[in-house]
Amino acid sequence: MDADFYPPQSVARVKHVSADQTTAFLELRNGNIATCTTSEGFHFERGDIVFIDVDNNDISIAPDELWDEESWVGVVRLLPPGQVVIDIGGRLKVLDEPNVIDLREGNTVKGYESRGITEVISEDPVRYIDLPAVDSVTVEQFKASPDGALSFDDFGGYPEIIERAKELIEIPLERHEALTKIGARPIKGVLFTGPPGTGKTMLAKIIAHRADAEFYEISGPEVLSKWYGQSEELIRKIFEDAAAQERAIVFFDEMDSLASKRRDDSHEASRRIVGQLLSAMGGFTADTNVVVIATTNRPQDLDPALRRPGRFDWEINFPMPNMEDRRAILEVSARRLNKGEDLPHEEIAEKTSNWSPAELVAIWSEAALLAVMESRDAIFSDDYICGFERVAQHRKRTSVSGSGIGEE
Ligand SMILES: Nc1ncnc2c1ncn2[C@@H]1O[C@H](COP(=O)(O)OP(=O)(O)OP(=O)(O)O)[C@@H](O)[C@H]1O
Ligand SMILES: [Mg+2]
Repeated sequence: MDADFYPPQSVARVKHVSADQTTAFLELRNGNIATCTTSEGFHFERGDIVFIDVDNNDISIAPDELWDEESWVGVVRLLPPGQVVIDIGGRLKVLDEPNVIDLREGNTVKGYESRGITEVISEDPVRYIDLPAVDSVTVEQFKASPDGALSFDDFGGYPEIIERAKELIEIPLERHEALTKIGARPIKGVLFTGPPGTGKTMLAKIIAHRADAEFYEISGPEVLSKWYGQSEELIRKIFEDAAAQERAIVFFDEMDSLASKRRDDSHEASRRIVGQLLSAMGGFTADTNVVVIATTNRPQDLDPALRRPGRFDWEINFPMPNMEDRRAILEVSARRLNKGEDLPHEEIAEKTSNWSPAELVAIWSEAALLAVMESRDAIFSDDYICGFERVAQHRKRTSVSGSGIGEE
């Protein structure tokens, strides 16, 4: 190799040149400013990178690459005459005499401290929040594995509701071909409505776990908080994946949070999500074997478009449990508990008119506490009755009493 070496030279950036070109202020790499003067006039201008050859008392232009400067990316917010206002990570910056002429508000641009804007990266504004990508890996996260922890044996009371739910969900999935042959409009969406704690979520999961179908579980509030801005894309991808399965259930829990008809800020997002749902469900073909289940305790808030024929036109209402239901719920929910004796389910069921299943089940937590405090390892009738009284007290204080819907 044959190479010539020259003595080292300092690199600097020109910060300012006087109007008569005789004085220049140079920024050195360590941040210091050097002043130099010449009677002949400098041939560089602000922003140029220069070599300083101290030995020979000479300054010459150097390639820009020698001053590796970090670029910034920003969004053009305003274009007053001769200036640009740029939003860089939330901080506004004004640049005079922008180099790039064809700028529009909303453009995403790249620039350097010394040289100003050098390039338009995108016609549209970049988003600062790193939005998660909606890809097949994401869709996998919504596939709930049927853990089989819950079964119909855990669901007390409501025999007609269980029957109806099986009819509307299991039969269409299992007998898809036969139903298609008959040619009637297929069941696409089933809406579970009813007051809080009446077992809507629980039953939907039990059915899904039992059905031999791919199960996608989407919690409305979670999608809104984690996927805001991309909810539609997420929904589209999930439906695409579901449609490719032999059988699938797409389950939207607390649907009202996603698809409400409210007129506030969230309306725009809701409207787009509803639009996406409508088009996804409208796009089902004869081969698509997907049933969509949604739950809500505020059906009045749901966007009415979702109730159109071919969408969620089947509804199962979960009322507050009647006497029979309550006895069954108490019995069933005590199934796995250690019991010291036969428990008075009948008596408690009689005293709990207007209680929701969730409130009934809460009795067991109180009863277990009482038993443990008395050093017992099983629940006895006294624990049960005291537990009931404690939940009753709590209900009174927080006035969460049921709405009375369906009470006998
Ligand atoms: N029929 C039932 N048999 C036994 N336990 C039940 C029954 N229904 C509800 N539960 C109990 O109540 C809890 C709450 O029920 P779930 O979450 O399904 O109510 P929900 O109707 O979805 O309420 P929300 O409208 O507030 O979402 C369940 O986890 C379960 O412990
Ligand atoms: Mg629920």
